[in-house]
Amino acid sequence: MTGPLSALIRDRRVIICCGAGGVGKTTTATALALAAARGGRKVLALTIDPSKRLAETLGVERNLREPVSLSPERLAAAGIAAPGGLETWMLDPQLISDRTISGLADDPREAARLKENRIYKQISRMVAGMQEYTAMEALHGFLKEERYDLIVLDTPPSRHALDFLDGPRRLERFFDGRIFQLFKPSEESGFIRQAASKLIGQVLSSVFGESNYRDLQEFFVAFAPLFSILTHNAGDMFRRLSDPKDCGFLLVCSPSSEAIVDALHFRDKTNELDLPFAGFILNRSMAGETDRVMPHAGLFGPDPSPLQRGALQKLLRLAHIEQAEAARHLILLNDLTKAAGKAAFATALPNFPSGANDLSTLVELADVVD
Ligand SMILES: Nc1ncnc2c1ncn2[C@@H]1O[C@H](COP(=O)(O)OP(=O)(O)OP(=O)(O)O)[C@@H](O)[C@H]1O
Ligand SMILES: [Mg+2]
Repeated sequence: MTGPLSALIRDRRVIICCGAGGVGKTTTATALALAAARGGRKVLALTIDPSKRLAETLGVERNLREPVSLSPERLAAAGIAAPGGLETWMLDPQLISDRTISGLADDPREAARLKENRIYKQISRMVAGMQEYTAMEALHGFLKEERYDLIVLDTPPSRHALDFLDGPRRLERFFDGRIFQLFKPSEESGFIRQAASKLIGQVLSSVFGESNYRDLQEFFVAFAPLFSILTHNAGDMFRRLSDPKDCGFLLVCSPSSEAIVDALHFRDKTNELDLPFAGFILNRSMAGETDRVMPHAGLFGPDPSPLQRGALQKLLRLAHIEQAEAARHLILLNDLTKAAGKAAFATALPNFPSGANDLSTLVELADVVD
């Protein structure tokens, strides 16, 4: 193990893969976890809403109640042997959210009642930040248990790479916000305040319907203290994730023109939040392919036919397009390396034209990481 990624998977306890939608966060997280497990560590890959295909490849069901190990056959096929191990948990955000509520409510009946609340049902899926929060919550629990040497955390699909970092704060804003205040029953006892509150109650119940309004009110009364604990936990979590010896944030990006803008923003934002930025991964990159052998007439023997010459011209045109693309990726990788600075790195993972959903391709990716 020599490269910057190999040092990361050998030394850190938490690696968090961030990135815009569809860039390969889940794939990269899985490959990193495989590589670390092959290196002898006990690893948990915590992936979020992974594709059915990936779940089948790993032979693991989604939405289980807790992490499960890959089967001995699959571990062997991936080259993982004791003391290394690989568990995965394909996280359903709803499930974690429910567990969090169960953990915080006073008794199981209260928890069941809260989970039945219609607003909660909607909101636990809808509120921006809930998925990010629940991922962090799960991570928090595992870290406290010290069950794994390394946890690789994938982050939810989002338009923007930094949504993950902003999640808990958005949640906090929501609960501190005006909508929340509007529904929260007044704690102040002043007559005007009480009258205003009653009036608001009447108006809202006529707008939303009596039973909806009651659900809303129950939701805000019951959840306000719970969510204040949650946001407090998020603060604690942020502190844990701030230790550069323990944790590393990676930005996975695709070789698109936005990559460098996203990268600079990610670097500055992690810096601003005091989170240990570890590096950039340029996924699906052809940067390593600039020295490919070009097609030439000799391929067809000493005397190529006109048909073969025609075919060669076509091949050459395609090869030049690919070469230009590879050169562009290499420039991008160099720009990312500069943007990463001395304390971090930029590295490329190759593109597999037929996707990276099967075990042998994931293992190939893990080999690159090593
Ligand atoms: N290096 C690669 N070579 C080829 N295909 C890849 C590579 N990396 C990812 N893919 C493919 O791209 C698709 C998207 O990858 P993945 O699910 O990892 O992205 P994601 O960032 O997690 O997406 P989302 O934001 O939706 O969660 C998958 O089909 C995966 O197999
Ligand atoms: Mg994903």
